[in-house]
This record gives sequence, structure tokens and C-alpha cells, in this order.
Amino acid sequence: MLPLASPGPDYVPGAVNDPAFRSIFRALHEGVAIFDADGRVVEINPAAGPLLALAEDDLRDGAVRPGPIEAVNERGDPIPEEELPFYACLRTGTPRTDVVLGLRGKGKRVRWFLVSAVPLVGGGTVASMLDFTAIKNARDEIEQRKDEFITTLSHEMRTPLMSLNGAVSLLHAGAAGAVPESALPLLGVARRNADRLIRLVNDVLDLERILAGTMSLSLGLHELNKIARIAAEAASPLATAAGVQLAVIPSEKSILLQTDVDRVQQILANLLSNAIKFSPRGATVEIRVTRVAQRGQVTVRDFGPGVPKHFRSRLFLKFSQADPGGRTRGERGSGLGLSISRAIAAALGGEVGHEEPVGRGAAFFLALPRERSTA
Ligand SMILES: Nc1ncnc2c1ncn2[C@@H]1O[C@H](COP(=O)(O)OP(=O)(O)OP(=O)(O)O)[C@@H](O)[C@H]1O
Ligand SMILES: [Mg+2]
Repeated sequence: MLPLASPGPDYVPGAVNDPAFRSIFRALHEGVAIFDADGRVVEINPAAGPLLALAEDDLRDGAVRPGPIEAVNERGDPIPEEELPFYACLRTGTPRTDVVLGLRGKGKRVRWFLVSAVPLVGGGTVASMLDFTAIKNARDEIEQRKDEFITTLSHEMRTPLMSLNGAVSLLHAGAAGAVPESALPLLGVARRNADRLIRLVNDVLDLERILAGTMSLSLGLHELNKIARIAAEAASPLATAAGVQLAVIPSEKSILLQTDVDRVQQILANLLSNAIKFSPRGATVEIRVTRVAQRGQVTVRDFGPGVPKHFRSRLFLKFSQADPGGRTRGERGSGLGLSISRAIAAALGGEVGHEEPVGRGAAFFLALPRERSTA
């Protein structure tokens, strides 16, 4: 493709006067705006109007810098102006593609745009913006219906599963008379799988409660090095069975947190079970405790295959797992652990994330706010 040329310093806005070109430019569903090197708009079509709050007429007397744009990302966090794709592209000289950007209009309605920006040779950038509000709303609604369906199904399955499990356990224990030796392994299989299904159903219901904000928290003052040590002790049978060493590296100073310690243990148990599951026999899993600004952090690092690059954006989605071929051992989980961990961490005012790996393996962190009075 030929490089896209900049309009240059002497460019007169609206100068693209070829009538056929202008008609096409104006009829596009996709908004298009050309910015000069100073971040001023020199060309704009009507579809770009809503995002930039500019119209063709505004450019009659020359290039115009758009007013402040208050945009949010998909999580609802504000996007700083310099991070808007067209300004970021101007600043760095590199393209930005398919950035999702929400604009809050009158009332609470948000309009969603997919924005890309490509640098122009000689300065400036051309930005395209597609209003995909209708598609996004439809997608969100499907997502919500799917969640409701899964939750209802889980609710309905829980009671029969519990009674099934109870009945099989009683049979296994001989409560209904002696079980033939040859049937015992079969009852064992039935019990283990019923257990697994109950765990899955409980995980789904747990996640729903956390996301709905109806999970009750029981807060207390706890020290993070101690939390990490207890998490390692709890995971040690799993580690031993997998031939993996657990190494806790405490922080020098103690770190106090006002938090729900059982929920923190639940997060660490999942991070540790993942790290152990993906570690080769004989490897070590590091559990490092650090102070990072106002937060206390536990980083769980393993020396397994790491998280494939193509999968990183889906790590924290429900039921999502990379190709299980990459895993070295263990039962296949349900792919809920990380999404539950992230939701709990958010409810505790913190965060769970994946660190860009340095060298081999994977590293995940849990960061929680430190208790202020002891800072
Ligand atoms: N330490 C790790 N190394 C490599 N891949 C990982 C690691 N931790 C997580 N993953 C990837 O992320 C996926 C999701 O992890 P998550 O904990 O959510 O689910 P799971 O462990 O598969 O199942 P569950 O936790 O519900 O039993 C894993 O299946 C794996 O593909
Ligand atoms: Mg897991």
C-alpha cells in the first residue's frame, strides 16, 4: 500500500473538492477525520461528528482542535485525553487499532465507538471511528441472558446433585449393606465426579453472588506475609503430589491489610493451584510478598510453559482455558478460577492480574490496599 500522505502545513480544510470523492467521503457510515501534526482537524465527515463534537462547517475558517472528549473504556474507567487513539498515534507515530471507546451522552446512555488511527507521512494522522452501540448492546444482552441461564441451571442442579452425591457416598460407605468388592471402584468414580460437578455448580453460584455485590465480607486486620505462608501450607499437599517446591519470599517489613482473609486465601489457592498445575516436576513456585505504594502484593510465579500470548486477553473470562495441551498435569478445571479471583479482588478493593513474563513461566499478582493507619 502507498504510504498515506500528510495534508501538510499549508493545507486548506475542505480542499478535497473532487465532487465524487467528497460524496463518498460524506456518505460513509464510518466516521473519518484527518488531523494535522498539531492535533487539529483538517477534514471531517458527518459520521465523525458525534465523537469529535465537530461538523464540516466548523472547519470553514481553518483547522480546529476538538474540545475536551470525556471518553471511558469498556470497564467504565476514564481514558486520559493523550491516550485517545488519534492523539496517541500523533504522539508516538505508531498506529492504534480497534480501541473501544464510550462516550456518555445526555442521561446515562453511552455510545460506543471502535476507533483506529494511522500516522501520515510528514505528520498528522487519519482516524476512523465506527459507532457500534447497537451491536454492543445486543452482545451485552446476549451475554447477560447466557449468564442468567447458566445461573438458573446451576441453581436447579445443585439440590439433585447434592442428594445424588449423598446417596452414592452412603452406598460406598456400606450404609445399605455390603457392596461387592468389584463395585467399589465404580462407586468411587461416581463420587469423585459428583464432587467435581458440585464444585463447578458452587463456583458458578459463587461468581454470580460476587458480581451481583451480594457476597458478604468479613473484614479483619491481617498481616500479608502470614497470609502468604498459610496459603503455601494449604497448597503444599498439592505441590508435594506434583513434585513441586513452594518458596515463600516474605517482605522485609510487615504489611497490614484490612480484609476478608478467607476470600484472600481463596484467590491465592487458585493462583497456586494454577502455578502448580503448570509446573514441571522438580520445579519451584515462588510466592513473593512486596509493598507497592499503597498496596500489599503477592506474586505467584512458576517456571512452566507460561500463558500463550494469543490467550492473554481471555485469561480472566469465564470458562476460558488455553489449549489444555499446554498443561503438564492434573485434572481439567472449569476455567472459572481466575474470573472468580478477579471478582473477589475487586470486591476487596484490589486487583488480580497477569504480569508480562520475564523469561520462562507465568506470574500472577494479587494486590490489595494496605491498612492506612499503619502505613
Ligand atoms: N500459571 C499458569 N501458567 C500457564 N497458564 C495458566 C496459568 N494460570 C492460568 N493459566 C491459563 O488460564 C486458564 C484459566 O485459569 P483458571 O484458573 O481461570 O481456570 P482453570 O485452572 O483451568 O480451572 P479452575 O480454576 O476453574 O479449576 C487455564 O486453563 C490456563 O489455560
Ligand atoms: Mg485455576
